[in-house]
Amino acid sequence: MFIVTNMWITVVIALVAIYIIVAVLVSRSRANKGPRPPEYPGALPLIGHGHLFGSGNSDAFWLLLQDCYRFANSNSGVAGLRIVQTQYYMVTDPDDCVTLANTALDKDVVYDFMKPFLGEGLLTATVPIWKIHRKLLTPAFSQGVLDGFIGVFNSQSKKLVSSLNQEDGKKPFDFWTYIGPNALETICLTAMGGATTDDRLTSKYMRATENLYNIIVSRFQRFWLHNNFVFNLTSLGRRQKKYIKMANGVTSAVLERRKNELVNGTPNSEENSGKKLKAFIDLIIEYSGERGLLSDQEIREEVSTIIIAGHDTSASTIVYTLVLLGSHPEIQERVFKEIDEVLGDRDVEKQDLPKLVFVEAVLKEALRLYPIAPFIVRRLTESLKLKHYTLPAGSSAFLAIHALHRHKMWGDDAEHFLPDRWLDKNRIPEHQAAFAAFSLGRRMCIGKNYALMNMKTTLAHLIRSFRFKSNISELKLKIDLMLKPHAGHYIAVERRM
Ligand code: HEM
Ligand SMILES: *[C@@H]1O[C@H](CO)[C@@H](O)[C@H](O)[C@H]1NC(C)=O
Ligand SMILES: *[C@@H]1O[C@H](CO)[C@@H](O)[C@H](O)[C@H]1NC(C)=O
Repeated sequence: MFIVTNMWITVVIALVAIYIIVAVLVSRSRANKGPRPPEYPGALPLIGHGHLFGSGNSDAFWLLLQDCYRFANSNSGVAGLRIVQTQYYMVTDPDDCVTLANTALDKDVVYDFMKPFLGEGLLTATVPIWKIHRKLLTPAFSQGVLDGFIGVFNSQSKKLVSSLNQEDGKKPFDFWTYIGPNALETICLTAMGGATTDDRLTSKYMRATENLYNIIVSRFQRFWLHNNFVFNLTSLGRRQKKYIKMANGVTSAVLERRKNELVNGTPNSEENSGKKLKAFIDLIIEYSGERGLLSDQEIREEVSTIIIAGHDTSASTIVYTLVLLGSHPEIQERVFKEIDEVLGDRDVEKQDLPKLVFVEAVLKEALRLYPIAPFIVRRLTESLKLKHYTLPAGSSAFLAIHALHRHKMWGDDAEHFLPDRWLDKNRIPEHQAAFAAFSLGRRMCIGKNYALMNMKTTLAHLIRSFRFKSNISELKLKIDLMLKPHAGHYIAVERRM
């Protein structure tokens, strides 16, 4: 018995020794390719920086990331971070960010949490599939298609204004409770068309996506739920399954109906008003139908992706913009003046949008200071050569959007809300990575123009109806998958006469 145990101990020691030797050789072979970026302080043996991330405390996570940005900035723009066996790099140097965005198109494993729902939709797709789908979907986001959505943007904005009337002159409140559901409904209408409103499919879909989004956020914060097997055993995992089934039931029903209408030529209910709303789902069926390129499941995944990527981002940006305008009354009045001059009392039309120059400057400045995606994470399938370092294949890199937006190239007033800088070419840094709220390179946001049109229309209706009051100094942030307010985001509204 003693001998047997002894033998096992020997075997275990031998295995551990082999593991250590292999690990050292692997890291040597990586190191040999050139100097390695400095490591962010505080790493422990084995778990690396894992203890700094895995606390589940999302405001501490934001403080940590910012400190990591500072550390990288003071060390030639790249810093190493290790979570257990996975090597990450924080990239803040603008040139290196461009290289990263253009060369590394694969998404990091954190995006895999969304895969049970979004599958091979654009946001989460592997590169070979992404290339085909991106090409196929690009025409769906052309200006001509987007112009067809202005009616929806206007009516949704008016709906928002009328629901806000009940807050007139009252205490500050959480604006998200109004804009969140409104924005989700807007994107559902443009993604799946008005046909969904008849039978309350939209509200069912909204309930499912809202829950799914919250489940993904909760899982992200709890590192012990990151493992698929463990997650599937939890109640959170079971709820995710339930809501995915619910959401997919809706997209399947809409898809079936749309396909039947295309075959039978049955008129849609929207056609009565003269102009038919072409929703994303119609366009995707059309593009894929001719060449039979996408399966039903792929179409559903793309529609769900557009909805997930499109609602929270725009809605949160509106919240930040209103908190900023509510803290800068003189700028808010200038926005009001421009809207009043361009529009008067009527709805927004497509030719008005380019004239809302100051509104656009305000939105861009809000996106610069509070980019809802403060970083993106790319997986390196091949080694990546940056200015000073070569990052090894198998690691992942953070592209630090938030750090780019406050980089010294923006000048000493980088921390200040100054929409006027967007009106003067000389005050905008020339570097292509100076502004990256919609990411950079070939895999940047496909919905950028949709988002700007929608947000401009929403702001136009809001600012001409209400005066907003807030206090930006009280704003505190956290990372909930995206950059979210943690406190101090309350806003009061007062009806303009
Ligand atoms: C203020 C609003 C928005 C911001 C700040 C924003 C930002 C971003 C960013 C940073 C990415 C890159 C993600 C990554 O590489 O991990 C992205 C991708 C994407 N966005 Fe947006 N987005 C916004 C609105 C929208 C809207 C309205 C839509 C749809 C109508 C949309 C659809 C997408 C899609 C489908 C992708 C994946 C693109 C691809 O991988 O090819 N986004 N967005
Ligand atoms: C977890 O469940 C999902 C379906 O919700 C399934 O696709 C996946 O294979 C499961 N993973 C494991 C490791 O059980
Ligand atoms: C805004 O908040 C800051 C910090 O709490 C406070 O010092 C300041 O007085 C507030 N400003 C207004 C106008 O309420």
